[in-house]
Amino acid sequence: MKVGILTGGGDCPGLNAVIRAVVKKGLANGYTLVGIKDGWKGLIENRSVPLTSKEVSGILPRGGTILGTSRTNPLKSEEDTKKAIDNVKAMGLDVIVAIGGDDTLGVAARFFEMGINTVGVPKTIDNDLSGTDVTFGFDTAVGIVTEALDRLHSTTEAHHRIMVVEVMGRHAGWIAVHSGIAGGADMILIPEKPFDVNDVIKVVDKRRAEGKNFSIIVTAEGAYPKEAGMITMDKERDAFGNVRLGGVGEHLAEELEKRTGLETRFVVLGHLQRGGTPTAYDRVLATRYGLKAVDLIEEGNFGKMVALRGNDIIAVCLDEATKKTRTVDDEFYKLAEVFFG
Ligand code: F6P
Repeated sequence: MKVGILTGGGDCPGLNAVIRAVVKKGLANGYTLVGIKDGWKGLIENRSVPLTSKEVSGILPRGGTILGTSRTNPLKSEEDTKKAIDNVKAMGLDVIVAIGGDDTLGVAARFFEMGINTVGVPKTIDNDLSGTDVTFGFDTAVGIVTEALDRLHSTTEAHHRIMVVEVMGRHAGWIAVHSGIAGGADMILIPEKPFDVNDVIKVVDKRRAEGKNFSIIVTAEGAYPKEAGMITMDKERDAFGNVRLGGVGEHLAEELEKRTGLETRFVVLGHLQRGGTPTAYDRVLATRYGLKAVDLIEEGNFGKMVALRGNDIIAVCLDEATKKTRTVDDEFYKLAEVFFG
């Protein structure tokens, strides 16, 4: 059995922990393992490296991915699709373990339909994959934002300012809501609930009336004011059709300062949320996912994604898992709302 492993899309803490688990258990099963470099791009370009016990030694706590990653979509052109399929044969692969978010796993689902054995592992700090309760990397990102909010509290309070903190998450507000609750944000804005700037001002005013002369507003990068619509960095789309979100923090800070006359600053936490070592929770989840992926290979159970349901790691259809974005539900957002103002 020859197994190719690739990591695609934005990197995420815990990728190396999955690679390590697949390699360790795969070697114990007698498999040959190779790493496909830079996601689907490496498959198109026939670039791979052997993965033995030596390559995965010491990588568990490391962020990023030892295999490199890209946002290349091999289904974008017929030529690239053909090259990728030909290279599965050229590399002699029996199965590909694709570690990625909805884009990378969507490709794995399509390749499976085309006759290539694939197994998916759900990765993304955004936690927006519908087939699983949790994606690895999310816990680390929430921890980083929570620490940032703790630090921002003291400086914001000292200067009696409004601080707008923009966090990642694409079209889902999971990072914003979880870190906002954990970090005691005074208001949390998410893409699922287009906001009115006047409502943010009401929160700031209420706090001031109670003698609290500072406010921390967490906004997801995909949140948008009803009046202005979605805010993007530019008009470009990537190979999967995704826009580059960003800018809502700056926009909101300007509006708040203009309309309230209060000194306002903004912080964009950006790629800090994806960097560095994974939390213990993410290391364990990533390890369990990697081990389950090898179980699926052993069973010949392809076209599946490993997933967390409750406390169990199960297999779900790749196709189903990548069909729709998992967004924040009303009930959960209501918990956060209790602490607004
Ligand atoms: O999907 C993960 C993510 O970090 C999103 O939260 C964010 O919108 C996007 O990737 C950023 O992508 P890039 O690394 O290409 O700037």
